[in-house]
Amino acid sequence: MAAEPTLRGRVALVTGASRGIGRAIARRLSAHGAAVALSASPRSAEALNAARDEIRAAGGGAESLVCELADAEARGALVARAEAALGAVDILINNAAGISAYAPPSKIDLAARRAMFELNLQAPIDLIQQALPGMRARGWGRIVNLSSDTSTQPPIPYAGGAKFVHALALYGASKAALDRYTTGLAAELHGSGVHVNALLPYKIARSESAEQVARQAAATHPDWVEPLELMAEAAYLLVAGAHQGEIAVSRALLQRCQQPLHALDGETVIGDALSLVQFS
Ligand SMILES: NC(=O)c1ccc[n+]([C@@H]2O[C@H](COP(=O)([O-])OP(=O)(O)OC[C@H]3O[C@@H](n4cnc5c(N)ncnc54)[C@H](OP(=O)(O)O)[C@@H]3O)[C@@H](O)[C@H]2O)c1
Repeated sequence: MAAEPTLRGRVALVTGASRGIGRAIARRLSAHGAAVALSASPRSAEALNAARDEIRAAGGGAESLVCELADAEARGALVARAEAALGAVDILINNAAGISAYAPPSKIDLAARRAMFELNLQAPIDLIQQALPGMRARGWGRIVNLSSDTSTQPPIPYAGGAKFVHALALYGASKAALDRYTTGLAAELHGSGVHVNALLPYKIARSESAEQVARQAAATHPDWVEPLELMAEAAYLLVAGAHQGEIAVSRALLQRCQQPLHALDGETVIGDALSLVQFS
């Protein structure tokens, strides 16, 4: 357990916590004392339980809650389920997301458009609206929405991998919508004690699902690829601090806060904040 139990007594709900960035953030928040409700779809119930057990083995409080977030009825009960298991949700990490279609913008069909916005925009908003009344009443809350640099299109003509970049237009649009919702909500919540921010990797965070892209990018742009610990560190900064309405890029946030990079235990320093060199 980390020496700094800054989140002791807090309860966090982390979606998409069966692997990747969500699992790393859940572990990091737990290392600072938060009890964590981890959620993922029924597809990954086993991995979700393994993530829960990993936190428990390190001495943290954790529950796993299987929930298909594309299903409005199922997600409508998620915050209440987390609260029944662990107590009032103080911290909501909207991390789960997906890509329903890789298609050029001229050809994206209606079903794919609906699916992408359902999971990447409507689900986070629904969870926020469930958790917010309690956070407001208690005068303390933290919401972090996971975003992506694909929310903006690189300059045209794009120098490399143009097809790939264009094929992410719909995914990027769903993240751009989430960013705009985040800043609007932050303005509405100003002064309430509830802080809402978005967080994105500079380019690629080395999750299992991004591994192939990470390997390709590392060959030509090694600075594009970052370890999961960096996203977990940045998420922790947003939760522990008083940032409001930021669309924060992980490494820029660490540099601005002069925060060293820690392992997921929250204690062991594994990187330098200013150069962001990772020690291994
Ligand atoms: N990795 C990157 O380089 C990168 C870059 C930019 C932005 N991001 C953003 O960061 C977040 C996490 O990325 P990641 O790479 O760690 O993702 P990931 O490895 O694909 O994991 C996604 C998580 O979300 C869950 N999930 C997906 N669809 C779901 C559904 N319909 N219902 C419930 N849970 C669902 C997955 O569980 P199931 O297996 O059960 O579906 C999994 O736990 C996402 O919001 C992503 O858009 C990542």
